[in-house]
This record gives sequence, C-alpha cells and structure tokens, in this order.
Amino acid sequence: MVTADELFEKLNRLRFGVEEENLRAHVEGVMPLIEEIEDLKKARNAVVLAHSYVPPTIIYSVADYVGDSYGLSKDALAASQDTIVFAAVKFMGETAKLLNPAKNVLIPGDDPGCTLADSITGEEVRALRAQYPDYTYVCYINTNADVKAECDVCVTSSNVYDIVERIENDKIFFLPDKLMGRNLIEEMTSRGVKKDIRLSEGTCYVHEEFDPDLVPRLKAAYPDLYIMAHPECRPEVVRQADYVGSTSQMFNVIKGMDVNRNYLMLTECGLISRIEAEMPGRNFVGTCQLCKYMKSNSLQGIRRVLAEPREEDFIKIDPGIMDRARACVDAMFHYAEKRS
Ligand code: 13P
Ligand code: SF4
Repeated sequence: MVTADELFEKLNRLRFGVEEENLRAHVEGVMPLIEEIEDLKKARNAVVLAHSYVPPTIIYSVADYVGDSYGLSKDALAASQDTIVFAAVKFMGETAKLLNPAKNVLIPGDDPGCTLADSITGEEVRALRAQYPDYTYVCYINTNADVKAECDVCVTSSNVYDIVERIENDKIFFLPDKLMGRNLIEEMTSRGVKKDIRLSEGTCYVHEEFDPDLVPRLKAAYPDLYIMAHPECRPEVVRQADYVGSTSQMFNVIKGMDVNRNYLMLTECGLISRIEAEMPGRNFVGTCQLCKYMKSNSLQGIRRVLAEPREEDFIKIDPGIMDRARACVDAMFHYAEKRS
C-alpha cells in the first residue's frame, strides 16, 4: 500500500495541486480511506484499473493499472481477479465486461458518461447501414455496447489510422467522432491511402475546445515548444502538432524527450498531471481542459462500489448484443496485431 509520504511526494509535484500545507492535510485525510479500499480489494479479490484522466489521488494510491483505453482493455482481458473496478467512464467498463464477461465490472464514477459515446445509438447505426450498405463500419472505442454490436471493427486513438489503413474495404463509415474522422481523412491522404470515408456528428466536448489560434501565439513566445495533441482535437489543431497520439503514446514519447524544454499538451489535464508527477522537470505552457465525467471518479466512489455496490454500479450487457459487440472489439485486436 502507498504510504502518506509517497502519495504526498507525487501530488506535491502537480502544477494544479493544492498548497503544501493543505496537501499534507488532504493526504493524511485520505489515508484511512485508501487502507479501507486496499482491504476491500483483498476481501473481494478485486483489481482497480484507472484511466490517466481520473483524479491523481486515485492514480497514485489504489490504482493497480493506469493507461489509455487500448492498454486498459488489454489489462481487463488479462485480469484474473473476480472483480474489476474501472475508474474511468462507462464505455470503458462495458469494453472490460465484453472482454472478460465472467468478471464483475464495477463503475465508481458518479457521472460516467462521455459526449462521444452518448452521441449515437445502435438503432441509428442500423439506419446508416440500411442507407450505406457497402461500407465497413468502424467505431471508436468511445461508444456504448449497442453501437459496437452494429459495427465491424472498433478502434482506439492509439491505432485508428493503422487499422483503417489495413481494412480491405476502401469504403469506411467512421463513427462517432467527426473531428477524429476528419483527422483520419487527412492522415489517409498524407499516407497516400485512397479511402472513401463517411463520418457521423459526435465530438468530445473537452478536446474540441482547444483553439487553433493559440498554437502560433505560444510558438512565438516559446521557440523550443514541442506540441502534442490527441486525435480528438480539431484538424486545425492537430495539423500544427509535432506528435499526435493516444494518452499513453504521448506519455511514452515525452519520456524520451528533453527535460529542459517547453511543452504544449492538447488534451485533458490528467495527462499533464501524470507527467508532472512521474517525470518532473518538463515545463508545460498554455492550458488544459477537464473532463467532468472522468473527474467524477473518487476514492469514496471506489470504496462504495467495493463495500456496498448498487445494482446500477455493475456493468451489464444485454445477452442479445454480447457476441456481436465482442466480435467488434476482437476485430480491433486482429487488425492491431496484423502487420502489413
Ligand atoms: P485514450 O485512449 O487516448 O486514453 O483516449 C480516451 C479518451 O476518452 C480521450 O478523450
Ligand atoms: Fe469522452 Fe472526451 Fe471525456 Fe474522453 S475526454 S471521456 S472523449 S468526454
């Protein structure tokens, strides 16, 4: 179990952390809760998976695995414990349940939605299929299970470009992120890959907020600026980035880069916090954005789902869609591992 000093040391490195004195009090205040959760994890034979965007106190205390949606899906698939507590959002918990259906999957967030996942339904995909039957339906992992059940291949931000390139059909319906979709079209063009790509209308309310005009202003002020962007950002933003990738890909790339350099990270604040806590010294300029859904996770929520779970805390997948939704996620692993 993490000690109060270890947790304090990590949290004290964060730019948006609380003042030192209050931080000490915060850490001392949560230690009994952390101990209780660790005991409950043992008693329930549970593992805690956490996305990089959830509050850092969770990441540096009770989380057993931290990562992006692709890495956490693999962790969920490999989990041997009886219970998976997924500190993230609902679609990630659903993906864990699809991949490891015998486990109890519990969602501790108070508001575990996602503007992308909530932008389209399975019924709407069926209607699109009737209208555009020749297309391969590629869904972003940020979709609910009923949507996955109507699609052919799932992708994440870490593999969307490579998987779409590898799909044999040159007609692709990509949903629901229209900004990621526009980035996908630009990337296929720059790779010389000819695909007819149709899009739907969803956006991530966090990443669409980044202003393309901010980038040249910051570049002028910081000539050494290295810019990283998540592919959910607008193409006008993504075009100006030095590196585009998933949260874990950005984290791994910055690990190998200069400490004494200025960085602009165009993603949710949680990723910057992780870099500040785990690789101190890099300087971040500009602003980041918060995802209220990811930030609705808390230690109290994790304790509650382990100690006294309510019916609605368990992820349940309609048996009528289980196999088709699972096949869509399996197709992602097939294409992701496939080398062209
Ligand atoms: P990653 O898979 O890159 O972590 O993205 C998940 C997400 O929801 C980003 O907004
Ligand atoms: Fe969904 Fe955006 Fe939050 Fe990611 S950051 S979970 S895409 S709303």
